[in-house]
Amino acid sequence: MEFDHVTVLLHEAVDGLNINPDGIYVDATLGGGGHSGLILSKLRDGHLYAFDQDQTAIDYNQEHLAQYVQNQHLTFIKSNFKNLRSTLAEHGVTHIDGIVYDLGVSSPQFDDAKRGFSYQHDAKLDMRMNQQQKLSAYEVVNEWPYERLVKILYRYGEERFAKSIARSIEKHRQEAPIVTTFQLVDVIKEAIPARARRHGGHPAKRTFQAIRIAVNDELGVLETSLEQALDLLEVGGRISVITFQSLEDRLVKTMFREKTTLQDVPAGLPVVPVEMQPDFKLVNKKPIEPTQAELTHNHRAHSAHLRIIERIK
Ligand SMILES: C[S@@+](CC[C@H](N)C(=O)[O-])C[C@H]1O[C@@H](n2cnc3c(N)ncnc32)[C@H](O)[C@@H]1O
Repeated sequence: MEFDHVTVLLHEAVDGLNINPDGIYVDATLGGGGHSGLILSKLRDGHLYAFDQDQTAIDYNQEHLAQYVQNQHLTFIKSNFKNLRSTLAEHGVTHIDGIVYDLGVSSPQFDDAKRGFSYQHDAKLDMRMNQQQKLSAYEVVNEWPYERLVKILYRYGEERFAKSIARSIEKHRQEAPIVTTFQLVDVIKEAIPARARRHGGHPAKRTFQAIRIAVNDELGVLETSLEQALDLLEVGGRISVITFQSLEDRLVKTMFREKTTLQDVPAGLPVVPVEMQPDFKLVNKKPIEPTQAELTHNHRAHSAHLRIIERIK
């Protein structure tokens, strides 16, 4: 079985976890198993729980990482990582030594035309990472009211023609449902002035990103999961998060900043008591970005940012 995905920031994200060979680790986004494989190669008595909400990724790694399943160092969990705490608890796990998130879709998901993620392939509107989920891009495009469409296009796509695109969607779907990615691309193109279409990449890029984020509730599940991961972390344990777009990165940056800065210290205290000091520290002040060498051989690495946090008490 093929799974053509080149892992981004492989060593940086895994080295950033400072692996304890006997520790309990989580890969929140198994995909093609690149990060999982490297974590597993560093374990002695430790264990890795690997999450993916897409059965295709689990099926592939049942083969690809079979040796680790056989020697009982690896457990697959087919679930959204927003269920991190409850799902780990079902496996008797209440603390972890580290977790990696490599967000977004994998290359096979993106390149598989029938998953409907790409404006470059004609397919039914879909964009569900979890193929059992009910909400797909079709419902968002054909059923969500105008105001809700405008909101997601602005918020998740940072699309300045949000209103005009939402209006165009409304107009077309009154005549007949918008069924395919290429139909949606035409509807978007019609709404963007010709002048603007010549700049800023493909005219459908921001709208497709916005719909994908909405379908999979990508920012909501990330926030929920990170809160749980921070709680589950042992002292010395770390979280590595790789993001691919500015909204996600801002969310991670803000959460990590809140957790690593002093809160509500009364003015004039000469020494901050230990119990008031933050429980976490940033491992790197600035996000880690791919090297030029990585960018040259993996175009998906563009815009990747890695942030790492550690529990210190
Ligand atoms: C970028 S790929 C991960 C690639 C992987 N690190 C590797 O080295 O091959 C992201 C994967 O995470 C999964 N995923 C994204 N969001 C998820 C979520 N909320 N819960 C569970 N899996 C998720 C996707 O289905 C996809 O397979």
